[in-house]
Amino acid sequence: MKIRMRRLRTTEVLREAVAETRVHASQLIQPHFVIEDPRGEEPILSMPGVARFGVEKLVRRVGKDLELGLSSVLLFGLYSKKDDRGTSAYEPNNVVSTAVARLRKEFGAKLTIITDVCMCASMDHGHCGILHDGKVLNDESLPLLSAMALSHARAGADVVAPSDMMDGRVAAIRDTLDEAGFTDTAILAYSTKFASGFYGPFRDAADSAPKSGDRKAYQMDPRNGREAVRESVLDEHEGADMLMVKPALAYLDVIRAVREATNVPLAAYNVSGEYSMVKAAAKNGWIDEGRVVKEILTAIVRAGADLVITYHGTEALEKRWL
Ligand code: PBG
Repeated sequence: MKIRMRRLRTTEVLREAVAETRVHASQLIQPHFVIEDPRGEEPILSMPGVARFGVEKLVRRVGKDLELGLSSVLLFGLYSKKDDRGTSAYEPNNVVSTAVARLRKEFGAKLTIITDVCMCASMDHGHCGILHDGKVLNDESLPLLSAMALSHARAGADVVAPSDMMDGRVAAIRDTLDEAGFTDTAILAYSTKFASGFYGPFRDAADSAPKSGDRKAYQMDPRNGREAVRESVLDEHEGADMLMVKPALAYLDVIRAVREATNVPLAAYNVSGEYSMVKAAAKNGWIDEGRVVKEILTAIVRAGADLVITYHGTEALEKRWL
């Protein structure tokens, strides 16, 4: 045999030299759930190792993460007051903008602050926009999302990330930000967000489950890959600086397709259900967690993601899994 594929697999150093994919800390984004009690810390039962933090606890955690080289956060707010307009999400000094301002003051430009923009956690019905006669209204929801994004930008967010899946929201948010002078605040669009069963633990964590029905009339059908490319290209044209595919693992083909269809940086969200499945199997001793996490994050990058949002970020760096 002239060609022996095994030759280059002989030693650890050789394998390292010919490795095609590497995941670097700078590509990882750590999500956080922010609660109103500044000193609060609440473990999330469905996501072992993840807790909701008040701003003081958040600052401490982010400080430690920065030392590990983990320099991007994605913030979600939890709101004690919910109504049918999602007011808590965009009123002055809301929980997320307070956290953003504090993190910015504490860490300056060393930290990239990304905020999730969506109405579900601040709406009493748990849907991602204004609900009328059982329907989530698209155009009527855009001003609310824009107001939420603007409040984050004012507080100092680098990037706002709309996850609601209303049509035209990227353009609406871009206009609002520009008119207010925030021309440098970037938009990471959750451009391809599937109506997925993998969000289960998150809805628990963010207290954002819809009280009635589901999100299938606005989030994407998991069966559709071509539609994902259309969504992505559309968001790019509306002014998105970065795109996203979410969830990640069951959609590696979609990551690849979007990667090939556009040249904007692409993020993939390794979501709560994907995280908790790994945690549950590891707890039972069924898998080697470090190995599996490395394999998962590498696969997402190999598929074409530039950035990976993962709840495993801190642990993967701390324990040198990558
Ligand atoms: C809010 C939102 C969700 C996630 C991120 N932003 C949940 C949903 O659509 O119900 C899911 C994240 C995760 O599962 O880790 N719209």
